[in-house]
Amino acid sequence: MVKRNTCVFISGKGSNLKNLIAHSRDNNFPIRISLIICNNKKAFGVVYAKKYKIPYVLINTKLKNYENKILLNLKKYKISFICLAGFMKIISNNLIKNYRGKIINIHPSLLPKFKGLNTFSRMLKKREKKAGCTVHYVNEKLDSGSVIVQKNFEIDNKDDENLLKNKTQKLEYRAFPEAIIKIFRNS
Ligand code: GRF
Repeated sequence: MVKRNTCVFISGKGSNLKNLIAHSRDNNFPIRISLIICNNKKAFGVVYAKKYKIPYVLINTKLKNYENKILLNLKKYKISFICLAGFMKIISNNLIKNYRGKIINIHPSLLPKFKGLNTFSRMLKKREKKAGCTVHYVNEKLDSGSVIVQKNFEIDNKDDENLLKNKTQKLEYRAFPEAIIKIFRNS
C-alpha cells in the first residue's frame, strides 16, 4: 500500500497525534506521519515528534508570514493529507484552497451541534442526552464540512466536563483512524 505523506497539526496534549502515530506503524494503515506542525511551543504533543523522530515545525501565528512557513513545509515534506488534531487556530482559506478535500478535523461534539469551543460546558447547560465526537472534512466554515465518522455515547447524570472529555477522547481514538481508513478505502 502506498502511504500518503501526512501532516498532523496540534496545539496541546497531542493524545490524538500519539494514537495516529501508533496506527500509522501498521503497514496497512493508509497514512505515514511525515510532519507535525504546532503553533504552541509549550504543547506537550511535541514530545511525540521527538520520541518518534518525526520532523516538526513550530509556527508563531502572530507573525505575518506564518502561513507561508506552513505552505513551504507542506511542500518540502510532500504532504498530500492533513489531520487537524486539537489545532486551536482557524485554518486560512488559502490553505484550504491548496488542500481542498484533503484536510480533516476531529471535533468533540456531535456536529452540527456545538460547533466551536467549550463544547462540554454548553452540552451540560443544555441538558443534552448524548455526547460524542465527529471527524469531518474542513471547509471555509468553522466545523461545518461533511461528516466522515461520528461516534456517540449517552450522557450520565454524574458526568461533569472532565468525565465528558475523557469519554469523548476514548471515542476519538477509534473515530480518527476509522475515518482515515474510510477515506482511502477505495483508492
Ligand atoms: C480533542 O479532544 C479534539 O476533539 C479537539 O481537541 C482535542 C485535542 O486533544 N479538537 P489532544 O491534543 O489530541 O489530546
